[in-house]
Amino acid sequence: MASGQLSRVEALACAGCRHACHVMLYCDTTTQLFGRIPIRHVVLMQMRFDGLLGFPGGLVNPSEETLEAGLSRELLEELGVALPISVEDHVDSCYAPSSSSSSRQLITHFYVKKMEEEQIREVEKAAASTATDHGQEVLGMVRVPLYAMQGGGGLASFLSHSFIGNARSQLIDSLLRLNLVSPAELQKALANSLKIHT
Ligand code: GTP
Ligand code: MN
Ligand code: MN
Ligand code: MN
Ligand code: MN
Ligand code: MN
Repeated sequence: MASGQLSRVEALACAGCRHACHVMLYCDTTTQLFGRIPIRHVVLMQMRFDGLLGFPGGLVNPSEETLEAGLSRELLEELGVALPISVEDHVDSCYAPSSSSSSRQLITHFYVKKMEEEQIREVEKAAASTATDHGQEVLGMVRVPLYAMQGGGGLASFLSHSFIGNARSQLIDSLLRLNLVSPAELQKALANSLKIHT
């Protein structure tokens, strides 16, 4: 395991730790942008109340709920849809860099769930209408552009925005692991994202 990572069991054994669970929901698609650029996959993130991009999910209290039930509860609040999350959807757990010495150590748990395109559309609809957190903790769901356009538009531009915690690396690692973009495409997007100044 990479540094800072720990197993789900080790994480739950940490008595004084706080826990947060987030999930990357995604699907395959045959849709083409402008009728010529394959979108290939819909990957959902959100614009948070603090102006940062992150994944849906939130703080979970393991003494009252399992990590997965807590994540489902957060998804109901933030997306307006009850999505079952299982232990098999768990990807990794890691220590968040501590922000202040007084607060308890935060462990972030990351999940990935593949869905049907129709289900993703329903999530987007509910998130913009019936979700209780809409317009408050969550300003809106966004799709991650995975393609590259002239001048760095697409994935490179997206990666140049600001992300909460290690959401940016969770996104990059997932795109690679699930083969949603090729290593060469990702390398190019990462290099171009550094050249973009805002
Ligand atoms: P409240 O209901 O206000 O407590 O928010 P929440 O329960 O939805 O919590 P939130 O989603 O903000 O997550 C809690 C903490 O986890 C945040 O303060 C961040 O430090 C961290 N965090 C939030 N989103 C992400 C993410 O996408 N990835 C990672 N790794 N950490 C995140
Ligand atoms: Mn148009
Ligand atoms: Mn929340
Ligand atoms: Mn949240
Ligand atoms: Mn919460
Ligand atoms: Mn809340």
